[in-house]
Formats: sequence, C-alpha cells, structure tokens
Amino acid sequence: MDAAVAVLREAVALGINHIDTSDFYGPHITNQIIRQALHPYPDDLVIVTKVGARRSEDGAWVPALSRQELTEAVHDNLRNLGVAAINVVNLRMMGEKPSTGSLAEPLIVLTELKEQGLIRHLGLSNVTPEQLAEAQTMTEIVCVQNEYNLAHRNDDAFIDQLAQQGIAYTPFFPLGGFSPLQSSALESTATALNATPLQVALAWLLQRPNILLIPGTSSIDHLRENLKAADLQLPPQAVEDLNAIAAQPLR
Ligand SMILES: NC(=O)c1ccc[n+]([C@@H]2O[C@H](COP(=O)([O-])OP(=O)(O)OC[C@H]3O[C@@H](n4cnc5c(N)ncnc54)[C@H](OP(=O)(O)O)[C@@H]3O)[C@@H](O)[C@H]2O)c1
Repeated sequence: MDAAVAVLREAVALGINHIDTSDFYGPHITNQIIRQALHPYPDDLVIVTKVGARRSEDGAWVPALSRQELTEAVHDNLRNLGVAAINVVNLRMMGEKPSTGSLAEPLIVLTELKEQGLIRHLGLSNVTPEQLAEAQTMTEIVCVQNEYNLAHRNDDAFIDQLAQQGIAYTPFFPLGGFSPLQSSALESTATALNATPLQVALAWLLQRPNILLIPGTSSIDHLRENLKAADLQLPPQAVEDLNAIAAQPLR
C-alpha cells in the first residue's frame, strides 16, 4: 500500500494530471489508495473511472449493467474517491473484445446521473464505432478506451475517426498488459534510439494527436522511464519497422 501511494504521489509531482481507475479494481481498494495518496486533489487532476462490470466470488469479471448496479457503482466511486462529482465515467461494455449491440439501456442511466451532477463527462470502453454513433445520439462522449498497442491494431481507423471529432482515445494495455510487449523489431529500434523497448512502444502510440496514455506501473523507476517516452522522436524508418510488428507473430 505504501509503495502504491508513493507511485501516485510521484506521478502527480512529475506533472501527471490524468489517472485511470475503477472502483471494481480490488474492489474499492484502488480508489481508496488514490484518495489516501492524493486527496484533496489538485485542481487540474482528472480522474477517469469505469463502470459496467464487477468481480464474481471466484474472481471472474461479470457484467454489472443494470440500473441498480450502475447507480451503486457511481456512488461507490464517489465515496471511495472522496469527491462530489466524478470527472469522467466510462461505460465499459462487457466481453474481451467489443461486440455489437445497443448500449442505450445502460447509457441512459449514466446520462441521468450526469444530469444530477454526479458525473461531469461520459466516455465509453470496449466499444465499436457503431456503438459510439448510437451513444452520440444520446449524450456527448469525450473519450473512448479500447485495447490498442503495437501488436493489437484493430482500432486504427476508429482512432483517426475519433481524432477528426476531437474525441480522446485512451488505449488500454498500452504496454501489452499482463505480458508486456516483446518483439525483436521493438528491441532493435529501442537500441538504435538509445531508449527502452517500452518507451518506444509508448512513443509510437503518441504519434496520433488524440491519444491519452495510461501505462500501469507499480514502480517509481518505471514511471520515470515511461514519462521520458514523451520526448522520444521516432524517425520514419523506426515507424516503418514498428508498424510491421502487428503483421508478425510476437515472440
Ligand atoms: N477499459 C478496460 O477494459 C481496461 C482493461 C484493462 C486495463 N485497463 C486500464 O489500462 C491501464 C493499463 O493497464 P495495465 O497496467 O494492466 O497494462 P499495461 O500498462 O499495458 O502494462 C502494465 C505492465 O507493464 C509493466 N511496466 C510498466 N512500465 C514498465 C517499464 N518501464 N518497464 C518494464 N515493465 C513495465 C508493469 O509492471 P511494473 O508494475 O513492474 O512496472 C505491468 O506489468 C490501466 O489504467 C487499466 O485500468 C482498462
């Protein structure tokens, strides 16, 4: 717990003003640690949470998209973060990958909570362009959070479409998640640039104008290393080599 508090405080001290969380992580403990580390929050800190799932007793992720579950989830976030309103709530649609289907029923619940002043902005997670379009007929959507990284590029066209609309795209698992990205092209590019492979993976994501990065880490050293990715310039040949990774099997 002390180590997590230290990472959060260092992140904010280094200028990070965007934290991604969920009350269903733990459950509850992640938000409680954020509160312990950072409350009262700096004025410019944007905390983004997600609702729509819960952990079952055996640890599996299960949908929690009913009116009651979503309302309770928003109130859990408010209480555990210690805020009167949440900056951004992402509606997380279930499934490992985005699946088709209407999101109107859960989204209407969140728009009502927004009208009540409990949520400032709404986003979506694990969704398709069609689901975004449906959502935009109901309310303003400020961000989309889907799985995307050097090796998982299903959203290439979607990200560009979001950029044209001025909507932020937050790639989840930017470093590959539980098994961080490994590829010989990534390693050789990193060596040539005098950087680490994961710095290069983050710099590659930052090429687009609407990307918000949320690399997870439990380590202050990794945090500092990851932040330096923002200063890394990728030459055209490096971009070409990195773009080829998604077409190759990963090591
Ligand atoms: N919307 C969704 O459905 C969804 C799903 C999954 C995740 N997310 C969000 O995505 C964000 C990132 O997720 P994540 O943390 O699971 O995946 P990630 O950022 O892709 O990878 C994190 C892993 O990379 C390691 N790492 C980080 N920096 C490193 C470095 N410089 N060198 C070596 N290893 C490094 C971390 O280990 P150390 O701790 O040792 O640094 C950790 O094992 C989180 O905010 C999470 O909430 C959202």
